[in-house]
Amino acid sequence: MNRRKLIVANWKMYLSLHEASLLTNRLDKHVELHHDVEVVLSPNYLCLQPLSQEIDHRKFKLAAQDGYFVDEGAYTGAISFNQMRDLVSYAIIGHSERRRYFNDSLEVVRDKVAAAVRNRITPILCVGETKEERAQKETKQVLHDQIVTALSNLTSDDAENLVLGYEPVWAIGADEPAKPDQIESAISWIRYQVRELYGEKTESSMRLLYGGSDEPEFVKSIMSIDGVDGLLVGRASLNYERFKDIINNAHLVALEEDKGKEA
Ligand code: 13P
Repeated sequence: MNRRKLIVANWKMYLSLHEASLLTNRLDKHVELHHDVEVVLSPNYLCLQPLSQEIDHRKFKLAAQDGYFVDEGAYTGAISFNQMRDLVSYAIIGHSERRRYFNDSLEVVRDKVAAAVRNRITPILCVGETKEERAQKETKQVLHDQIVTALSNLTSDDAENLVLGYEPVWAIGADEPAKPDQIESAISWIRYQVRELYGEKTESSMRLLYGGSDEPEFVKSIMSIDGVDGLLVGRASLNYERFKDIINNAHLVALEEDKGKEA
């Protein structure tokens, strides 16, 4: 199964509109269009509309960082996926910062995933264990619960298009990413869960990303791990040179894979 590589820039609550626009401009100048790597930018809500008019849509797609699970109503302060449906292709859902600081429970994440799908927005569902959970050997259980709950309202067709991001909480904002063997075993467990739920066809179509302290020099070793299709990049995506290098390195991995297949 040839899954297109995917690199997502999660700009979190950084950058004013002016700064986001400047960064987008720089990226546009320096990033080449690679048909084997899809690049997604996820700025704050305020930037979505203006950036959607600025970006070259062949090079970049936009993602929301969240969204509310009801389509419309008396919910002061909320923004629905329905309101964003013409602006974004993707939405990050269940990021550990949402789970931790905004109390997004397993069920809330499930409802947001369903709301995004209902509005034809592809969820980038984030899952991952905390340091304590890993120490308690609960990683598999945590990933299982997060995945099974979040996907529980989806058909296999819905699930096929979904993107899953493995982001171990302890590797976010850290000095270095998780080790390749740690990523590999989590990714293969996640793929096993998806296979159990939906079968092999859905699992083999689904793109899986790794997120947590990604930098250009780690791209090759992480993206060469079996079952990893791309990266969710935080800090390094705020710098156009580092982010450009990440995209180019992802393209090199894709080229090498293609060569391997031809041989
Ligand atoms: P860092 O790359 O800054 O560790 O953030 C990762 C992340 O949370 C991406 O969603």
